[in-house]
Amino acid sequence: MADGVTRPKHFLSDKVEHFTESVIREMTRQAMLHSAINLAQGFPDFPAPAEIKHAAQQAVAADINQYAITWGAKNLRQAIARQMQAWQGIVVNPETEVTVCCGSTESIVSTLLAVCNPGDEIVIFEPFYENYGPDSVISGARPRFVKLHPPNDYVGEWTFDERELRAAFSHQTKAIIVNTPNNPTGKVFTRQELEFIRDLCVEFNVLAITDEIYGHILYDGAEHISIASLEGMRERTVTINGMSKTYAVTGWRVGWTIAPPTITNAIRKVHDFLTVGAPAPLQEAGAAALGLPESYYHKLADGYLARRDRLIPALVEAGFKCFRPRGAYYVMTDISAFGFADDVSFTQNLVKEIGVAAVPGSSFYKHPRDGARQVRFAFCKRDETLDEAARRLRRLHAHK
Ligand SMILES: Cc1ncc(COP(=O)(O)O)c(C=O)c1O
Repeated sequence: MADGVTRPKHFLSDKVEHFTESVIREMTRQAMLHSAINLAQGFPDFPAPAEIKHAAQQAVAADINQYAITWGAKNLRQAIARQMQAWQGIVVNPETEVTVCCGSTESIVSTLLAVCNPGDEIVIFEPFYENYGPDSVISGARPRFVKLHPPNDYVGEWTFDERELRAAFSHQTKAIIVNTPNNPTGKVFTRQELEFIRDLCVEFNVLAITDEIYGHILYDGAEHISIASLEGMRERTVTINGMSKTYAVTGWRVGWTIAPPTITNAIRKVHDFLTVGAPAPLQEAGAAALGLPESYYHKLADGYLARRDRLIPALVEAGFKCFRPRGAYYVMTDISAFGFADDVSFTQNLVKEIGVAAVPGSSFYKHPRDGARQVRFAFCKRDETLDEAARRLRRLHAHK
């Protein structure tokens, strides 16, 4: 610079000015700092299935240690296609319609980068999984938020207002992101709701990007429906899923997109230049995971149901009001009873004084005030972890 003064900010992209660091991952750092029970970040603290760990070990031993085909190992893509047909009745061509990425996280970014132009808008329900906002910005698009309204009785479903959703669609809308089962609310979108979204997508010629990473984690008779299975949606949907949540391997970083060939081609190009490929031996283990019997998925959902029903009474006893999730592994709570100024001061107190980490609700909203009375807890944890959290939370009750 002419005046010889270094101004580091000068080197930064304007894009990063528009989003902050992940609050969820920051809470994990704080949990470690304060030796708190981490009910913030959604990773299991119990072992992954032995069969798939064995498959990963075998793959490394067999020297599957070099780049996989950039869009994914053939046997994993075939397993993904087989599962989608058996599960959702959707016929998928593994050669032209599947791209394996580094987790669903990369799948979402690669998809948005592949489809968005400057000025495009992406419709996102809020509260939302916090990556969707920055992902839209990174890809040059503008997020348009539409509220999911909480049930008054805490038991019913979070719902969107059809008029509000329609009002968010315009000729600038490129895509809508649908996350079902939903993080953080636990909402499972019904067929009727998905049909309403389908009709808007068709009317406005909009793409659906659907994050179904919790699709196998359902309670109380809820049914997972992939929007791509609805008439008229197959050709305008990118379905995203991954191994992280279904097989308790969030650190493996294997996810995928399923999309029509033209969109898949574009996603593959972005993915190739972003990451080249997902970890090769873990893709082999992925093929083994997707071959697990039906009983695995029943056990998975039953296990999470038991964890949900272990944590919620402890939260209620401590003074939280809990929105009952019908899918995924989070409980959104109402913290009004504790009298804190906002969700951030509450979670700071919780992690430092009580020893439990949770996520402030504001991180799931565009305007922090909308989440100021909400806090999210993850229950993808061992019974001992949840019981220890419950024990600590009782002290909070005494503070009330
Ligand atoms: C809705 C949602 N999508 C995607 C992810 C990230 O998935 P992955 O580990 O496959 O990148 C998460 C993780 O918490 C999530 O909650």
